[in-house]
Amino acid sequence: MPTQAPPAPSPTKAMSHVADPALAKQGLLNLEIAEKRMGALMKIRERFKKEQPFKGLTIGMALHVTKETGILVRTLRDGGAKVAITGCNPLSTQDDIAAALAEEENALVWAYKGESNEDYYKFLTAVIDSAPDITIDDGCDLVTEMHTKYPETLEKCIGGCEETTTGIIRLHSMVKENALKIPMIAVNDNKTKHLMDNYYGTGQSTFDGILRSTNILVAGKTVVVLGYGSCGKGTAMRAKGLGANVVVTEVDPFCALQAAMDGHRVMKMSEASALGDIFVTVTGNLHVIRQEHIDKMKDGAVLANSGHFDNEIDIDTLEKTASRKRRVRHYLDEYLLKSGKVIYVAGEGRLVNLASAEGHPSEVMSLSFCGQALACEYIVKNKGKMPNEVISLPPEVDHEISELQLAEMGVSIDELTPEQKKYLESWQEGT
Ligand code: NAI
Repeated sequence: MPTQAPPAPSPTKAMSHVADPALAKQGLLNLEIAEKRMGALMKIRERFKKEQPFKGLTIGMALHVTKETGILVRTLRDGGAKVAITGCNPLSTQDDIAAALAEEENALVWAYKGESNEDYYKFLTAVIDSAPDITIDDGCDLVTEMHTKYPETLEKCIGGCEETTTGIIRLHSMVKENALKIPMIAVNDNKTKHLMDNYYGTGQSTFDGILRSTNILVAGKTVVVLGYGSCGKGTAMRAKGLGANVVVTEVDPFCALQAAMDGHRVMKMSEASALGDIFVTVTGNLHVIRQEHIDKMKDGAVLANSGHFDNEIDIDTLEKTASRKRRVRHYLDEYLLKSGKVIYVAGEGRLVNLASAEGHPSEVMSLSFCGQALACEYIVKNKGKMPNEVISLPPEVDHEISELQLAEMGVSIDELTPEQKKYLESWQEGT
């Protein structure tokens, strides 16, 4: 069981668990590049340096350990926090960044790429052992562990932040069952998060992952996108831009309608299975590609998932029914089916953009992590005043982040004239 008290001060290097501390030098170089592209977050960091909003607090994180997350760690640390971090997916850690954070950035780090399930949960416990005052989760595993196994640690915790759609869905289920014991900020609800990161970020980085694994030509291929939410819309847009014929499958009539109006073919997965060359799941739902679909697929079809968990493709059944499995390239597994056809799975069915590539580019993560940084500050400012519910940040936060990013991009926009302001606030004036 974890103790309530924070660990005695000791060098983070000794307490941390990373793949290879010698990678720290490369990690610092990657952090330097990320910083250059995350100007909006750097502005918040400069303010935090002066104001020290997190002085004396511990922030426990379960996030993809990437160079962008490294800049969030620096931002919170410079704001006075002690940071303890683990990954939120066994394949998404960038080992050089984990090493740099532990060796050079004074953070407690437990993460390596290719973690066993046992280590994954051991590392979450290590973060909980650091007695966080604030949590940052991507997928809700950290907060779930605190609630189910270590409820006593919730007393000290003043609130948490959730990064992704799947995590928010889990939190709403906790609220429904009256199980949530701390206020949780839904950072994914920020427009500057789910309409940017999920859309532009997932759109680009999903193909980055598929291409690094397969080097396949997308032009002229049929790409089947399962799920037309924020991530699916971005993925379909990029597939179209690369010259693919896009097919969308959905269960939500409105999202299906949007896909059809955007010019994509919409059909049932039972029909799409035989047409696709590349399949991308982004539903946040279980087993959306099953054996019955795989049996109908073309020889050489590529399957990839960009949803949070690795259960969107039913890999377990595929593993049992395939007569052979080989690792043929960088995070590309070939399954020989009894029919003689082969099917390729990129990134082991885990988030392909992080397993096979490096996740979202820094520019878009800057927006998401401005949201995380400001959410942490919001928690401190509203300590004791928030209900134990899933809370959206006020719209001013999206304004602030958008303004910071526009300034970074050198984009100026108009202001309302006093006359326009008055007009928009009135209701008497018509035709
Ligand atoms: P969303 O809720 O906006 O969209 C999901 C869509 O999938 C919905 O329209 C839903 O109707 C549809 N869907 C559900 N079950 C389906 C089924 N059986 N067949 C076809 N469609 C189905 O969610 P969002 O924001 O697009 O996120 C999707 C997933 O991606 C989540 O797990 C989220 O956590 C994850 N995510 C991954 C990122 C990455 O870096 N790869 C980044 C951001 C989110």
